[in-house]
Amino acid sequence: MSFKKFCLTFTAVAAMTMLVTFEANAQSDVTFSEHVAPILYDNCVHCHRAGGVAPMPLTTYDEVRPWAAMIKYKTQLRDKMGAMPPYYLERDIGIQNVKDDERLSEEELQIISDWVAAEAPQGNPAALPAVPQFDDSGNWKLGEPDLIVKTGEVFVQGDSPDWWGEIDLIPTGLTEDRYVAAVEMREVNDADPNAGGETVVGGRWVVHHMSWMTTVPGEEDTRVDFPTHELGRNPDVFDEKAARLLRAGSSISPLVMHLHSNGQDTTAHLEIGFYLQPVGYEPALKPGRLGLGDGLNISVNGNDPASELHSYAVLKQHTKISSFEPHLHAPGARVCLEAIWGNQIETLACSGYDHNWVKQYTYEDDYAPLLPKGTIVHLIAYMDNSASNPNVVDSRNWSGSGNRSVSNMFLHIGHQVSLTDEQFVQEMAGRRERLGLRMGDHLLGCPLCGANIPPLGPEDDSSDE
Ligand code: HEC
Repeated sequence: MSFKKFCLTFTAVAAMTMLVTFEANAQSDVTFSEHVAPILYDNCVHCHRAGGVAPMPLTTYDEVRPWAAMIKYKTQLRDKMGAMPPYYLERDIGIQNVKDDERLSEEELQIISDWVAAEAPQGNPAALPAVPQFDDSGNWKLGEPDLIVKTGEVFVQGDSPDWWGEIDLIPTGLTEDRYVAAVEMREVNDADPNAGGETVVGGRWVVHHMSWMTTVPGEEDTRVDFPTHELGRNPDVFDEKAARLLRAGSSISPLVMHLHSNGQDTTAHLEIGFYLQPVGYEPALKPGRLGLGDGLNISVNGNDPASELHSYAVLKQHTKISSFEPHLHAPGARVCLEAIWGNQIETLACSGYDHNWVKQYTYEDDYAPLLPKGTIVHLIAYMDNSASNPNVVDSRNWSGSGNRSVSNMFLHIGHQVSLTDEQFVQEMAGRRERLGLRMGDHLLGCPLCGANIPPLGPEDDSSDE
């Protein structure tokens, strides 16, 4: 085919495609009942319902209709600050295999967009799927925990300033050592959920966060770290092979609780729900450390929409990063995590950031970054300290490091595990087999997965012969 003919053919095909698309749009029969409600029921109404955390319910057509344009706007933000659902992992870069992925698909975004363009028709009410029901009695996302430990009640006056402080040790009551598979934390309070309020998440909560660990009082070297409770946080599920130890006779020792008033006098306590591994479980892997972040040298200029923070760490052990959890404060807008190994630089993850929401992205086991010791990990934060960032109170202000939301933090607080040489080689061999990788293949985040490494340890019996 000559080039000219090709171009003509191409143009004709393109024109036809455009016509077809146009016709499809013109006759778009996307309706609330048939197409949009199922998306909202699957992705939104667990929060957007009467008694949910969101400010307005999105269950019926009458409830949704006034929000149609706003729903389109918020969902099309995809991974940017302000997006709904609040889940910001970027699609076009980094590892995509995460557990409990909350992102809408491009098809779902298109349906919402077409529906709003067609002036948000209701369609046939009889076609509406059943509204999902939620059990609010317990409200544990992971189901009833094996062990629940409660803090004492705290009282926060409606108009009091923020409070930081330590609270007393709380015995777990455990009489034998057990391993913790997952932990979920929730605040239980007497605040009126319908009172509104202008603080984060409709004034529902007074505990902003609590950092804690467990220790056996009076015994040395019994400290075990656990993830911080933060408002709106999803549960923490630990690597199956690296459950956390909860010792017999241990107590929760909160390091610091941060309380903030929500506009109404509120009495509250926290409940820590432990999900335990069966008796006899032994972890094969140890929790690891990345030590990524910087709590001292942050300087964000007033009215600067685009400054960057960088932090590097060298891995001292082979490390599997089970989850990515960036932690910034109000000016934070985006975070990326890179691995530098030899002359190879890989972006493992990038996500948008919204200081209203604490989000953790947990990798599917075979896709979690698996990095050899010596790898340099690099955390990059993109800060937007401008008037267009709604989380910034007054963008004219310079801000440095500190605990308050108007100051800055810059951390990776996801989970990781460290591996011995033998475990590292075995983990890679397992992946090669399960994912059908061959020598020379490349798996993002696993620079040696496709390398020719002879097996070590028990599988290697050649040296004995
Ligand atoms: C995890 C709970 C949660 C989920 C899931 C969620 N939302 Fe929201 N949504 C909220 C909360 C809380 C707010 C108010 C605070 C904020 O904007 O961050 C909000 C705000 C909004 C707003 C803006 C309201 C306003 O006053 O401007 C829209 C629109 C919205 N959500 C739509 C959706 C849609 C559509 C989905 C599903 C595709 C969704 N949300 C999923 C909790 C949620």
